[in-house]
Amino acid sequence: MIKLEHLSVRRGATQVLHDISAEIPRARITAVVGPSGAGKSTLLATLNGLLRPSLGRITVDGARVLEQRDSLREYRRRTATVFQEHALIDRLSAIDNVLLGLADQRHPLSPLPWPQAMRYRAAEALDEVGLLQRSAVRASNLSGGERQRVGVARALIRKPSLLLGDEPFAAVDPALVRQMGDILRRMAMRDGMTVILVMHQIDIALSLADKVIALAAGRIVFDGAPASFNADVQRRIFRVNAAKSFVDTADSIYEYQESNHVEFYAKALVLANRSQ
Ligand SMILES: Nc1ncnc2c1ncn2[C@@H]1O[C@H](COP(=O)(O)OP(=O)(O)OP(=O)(O)O)[C@@H](O)[C@H]1O
Ligand SMILES: [Mg+2]
Repeated sequence: MIKLEHLSVRRGATQVLHDISAEIPRARITAVVGPSGAGKSTLLATLNGLLRPSLGRITVDGARVLEQRDSLREYRRRTATVFQEHALIDRLSAIDNVLLGLADQRHPLSPLPWPQAMRYRAAEALDEVGLLQRSAVRASNLSGGERQRVGVARALIRKPSLLLGDEPFAAVDPALVRQMGDILRRMAMRDGMTVILVMHQIDIALSLADKVIALAAGRIVFDGAPASFNADVQRRIFRVNAAKSFVDTADSIYEYQESNHVEFYAKALVLANRSQ
């Protein structure tokens, strides 16, 4: 289990995450939802060890692994990421793209072919996502959904304990999202892999995840099972966000229009409404 305790995370001069406490269960899918700018990607980058919290702590099975260089390196070796744009290399075959998931495990300039054992793992990962038959096809000749599955296989080849995805299914149709969800759930249960997916579409998150964490304006506004996420919670998420963007907008307009309060409030309101 990953435990977040009173995390605060800053980016530049801004505090983006405020007092985040949550538990992320092992071998389950946790979805992180919330409006744009809520801090979802920031939370993921913190969980990936790319950003350090300014306050609070993260423990994995009770240990503070992200704070020491050696344990952080080991943690990151056991973590894999699925990207929204899949980030495939078009001229390489599906299987060669999957092998890139292991690029940190051999010399980057090695002219040698990939070792047999690694190629076998790549084939296994492609089989896992139902693409073994397509392993020799160039990425440029794959469909959008197939490319996404290659992206997932490239993460799975690492046999990660933790799989992170930042909107990995944003460009994939709902039927395929369900299929990907089933694949991830099967692997989570079988291999004890912990899955954390940032998602825009709340309905898909609710159908895919075992647990949902909703952020608004850098704070947790919901943490629980999909079944207890209702319309009321959804309204709360968007109201907090609208209030924050109103304050932000008002602040920035105020700098320009200190002297004209009426116009300043009118514009702030228009902008805040527009950003809802
Ligand atoms: N490098 C940065 N420096 C300063 N502020 C940043 C930086 N990156 C993000 N932010 C700010 O942090 C806040 C949260 O950003 P984040 O990218 O985590 O949101 P998000 O929930 O992932 O949004 P989206 O759904 O649009 O991807 C935003 O207000 C954003 O402007
Ligand atoms: Mg984001």
